[in-house]
Amino acid sequence: MARKLRVGLIGAGGIAQSHMQGWEENEHTEVVAICDIKRQAREDTAKRWGVAKNALFDDYEKMLEKVELDIVDVCTPNAYHKAAAVAGFQAGCHVLVEKPVATSADECREMINAGKKAKRLLMVAQVLRFNREGQTLRRWVDAGLVGDIYWGQCTLLRPRGVPAWGTFIDAKESAGGPCYDLGVHILDMALYLMDFPEPVSVSAATYLQLANKPSLMKHDPAKYTVPEDMAAGFIRFANGATLSLQTSWALNVTEAAAKMNVVVCGTGCVKRTAC
Ligand SMILES: NC(=O)c1ccc[n+]([C@@H]2O[C@H](COP(=O)([O-])OP(=O)(O)OC[C@H]3O[C@@H](n4cnc5c(N)ncnc54)[C@H](O)[C@@H]3O)[C@@H](O)[C@H]2O)c1
Repeated sequence: MARKLRVGLIGAGGIAQSHMQGWEENEHTEVVAICDIKRQAREDTAKRWGVAKNALFDDYEKMLEKVELDIVDVCTPNAYHKAAAVAGFQAGCHVLVEKPVATSADECREMINAGKKAKRLLMVAQVLRFNREGQTLRRWVDAGLVGDIYWGQCTLLRPRGVPAWGTFIDAKESAGGPCYDLGVHILDMALYLMDFPEPVSVSAATYLQLANKPSLMKHDPAKYTVPEDMAAGFIRFANGATLSLQTSWALNVTEAAAKMNVVVCGTGCVKRTAC
């Protein structure tokens, strides 16, 4: 068997534990170095997943300089995705980055260009595409059951679901609220099924009405500095298709109305019973 691909983890917090499990389960990969600015996070993660103590770093530039890596896995808060990914490319690595890709379109472009320049891959951890439902829906589209998709609607509304852990509500670290956290998941899923048509216009509104006020939710409203707790948008594509999106961490809807739902409708004339 060819040698295993050597992975360096940047950011050893909550979601990184699932990544570590994935790298461990994959017979072609091994995590050989971990960087986190917090000692406890890097040491706990290394202990849990059996990474050598002398391969722990508090600065990813040092890690990239000292350890030969094939892949860099970026699991930091959103604000640091771009710099860590670009550094990974400059060190000649492929980069897996958590969603959202980055905090602005300019940052995304910079990352894409750095990957092209280094001739290395940039992959974003848009997990919905890879789960059973996502793969099944994609197979139905590929099999022609859906036809040409001309309308879609994606919804992920939490009535009272502002994260009270991590740095999600801190604008300096996360930049955005439910749009960056939840919206990117359903938007990616819908676009994946629609074959990523070219967008020509976006109309959207964001609201901050509940999460910055005292409530029974566990987060501290005084620390809520991201710009929105709810967002709604409408996208028109060059092929004539349209897509609406609504997402929230806090909204006065029932739990029943709040389920995740990605709907795409096309020209396919399948009898209802066929599905
Ligand atoms: N795909 C999903 O469903 C999913 C789920 C949760 C989180 N996420 C994404 O994963 C990312 C991390 O979220 P989390 O919940 O694990 O956060 P977290 O706060 O639990 O972990 C982030 C870690 O990064 C470290 N860190 C911060 N700056 C760093 C730097 N410059 N260099 C090295 N380490 C640094 C922190 O010390 C912390 O340990 C976010 O972008 C989030 O949107 C994705």
